[in-house]
Amino acid sequence: MTYARIIGTGSYLPAKVVTNDDLAESMETSDEWIRERTGIHRRHVASDDETTATIGLYAAQNAIEAAGIEVDEIDLILVATTTPDKVFPATATIIQRRLGIAGCGAFDLQAACSGFVYGLDVADRYIRSGGARTAVVIGAETLSRITNWEDRTTAVLFGDGAGAVVLQASEEPGIVAAHIHADGKQEELLHVPQGISQGYDQTRAGEAYIQMNGNAVFRKAVATLDSIARETLAGHGVEKEQLDWFVPHQANLRIITAAAKKLGMPMERVVVTVDEHANTSSASIPLALDIAVRDGRIQRGELLLLEAFGAGFTWGSALLYY
Ligand code: UT7
Repeated sequence: MTYARIIGTGSYLPAKVVTNDDLAESMETSDEWIRERTGIHRRHVASDDETTATIGLYAAQNAIEAAGIEVDEIDLILVATTTPDKVFPATATIIQRRLGIAGCGAFDLQAACSGFVYGLDVADRYIRSGGARTAVVIGAETLSRITNWEDRTTAVLFGDGAGAVVLQASEEPGIVAAHIHADGKQEELLHVPQGISQGYDQTRAGEAYIQMNGNAVFRKAVATLDSIARETLAGHGVEKEQLDWFVPHQANLRIITAAAKKLGMPMERVVVTVDEHANTSSASIPLALDIAVRDGRIQRGELLLLEAFGAGFTWGSALLYY
């Protein structure tokens, strides 16, 4: 049997750090409120000359180096992002060019905070069906560019960053399965109201930023993450005790803690990085994964559950042997 197996992970956080205290200088908030309500201590913000392609490229190069492959072995590049460099071409083709390769398929995928799990699902299917042997899946975001820095209800929550994995066909177990879901009925609870196809309307300039009903999204996220965890484990005959690591989307420590509690995972087996980089949307899972792989927590052969929830709403999970 052929599996898609992660053979390398990578990530990148922009050098510029904005602390909670920095934000408290320009808006009515405090380090105490942000830490208590979200678990976030700081976020990284891209410099003027860094874009999603720049930081996505660094994460991909990092993962490629860890995988020990040559770039010309890559036959699929997938970038999950809500903040592409340009309307077109895809950020994936910009990264492909900067990697110095051409010919392989490269495209972007938009599923908000669930984008990386969606990307894993697509790449897994390509690899298992023989459509690709080596795929790079990148989650990269410059959310600072769609953040209203005068809105304390959202500005404190988001950050910029990128994470990536190299997947390769293997006889050794890798991704067991990924599950993706969406329900568009509550679009307005978390969205950027302005968009390309509506035409750029300067009188609505203030709507080109993230708007969220945080509390409603919070409740929905906790309930949904619980049901997807149950579905994933039951669907594959896996008991929660068999899981070595839970690697959730990093939006809010309280959401992560609630999901872990319902799953019966002790917090020592949960990868938490939201304190360091806030919510980086599609980048948050591969960032957390890479950090825990590089610091030695996640070991080869261990069983991981990845889970995401985001705008759309979209949600999904991946069960995999690292
Ligand atoms: O990536 C997936 C999508 N995103 C998420 O998963 C995020 C989901 N939501 C959340 O993380 C939380 O709902 C928040 C952190 C956004 C808010 O926490 P909450 O416990 O749901 O607070 P709340 O929205 O009910 O607001 C509580 C109070 C309000 O004041 P009043 O009305 O009680 O007087 C807010 O105005 O906190 C106020 N508040 C703030 N105070 C200080 C809201 N933002 C801030 C702030 N600093 N930055």
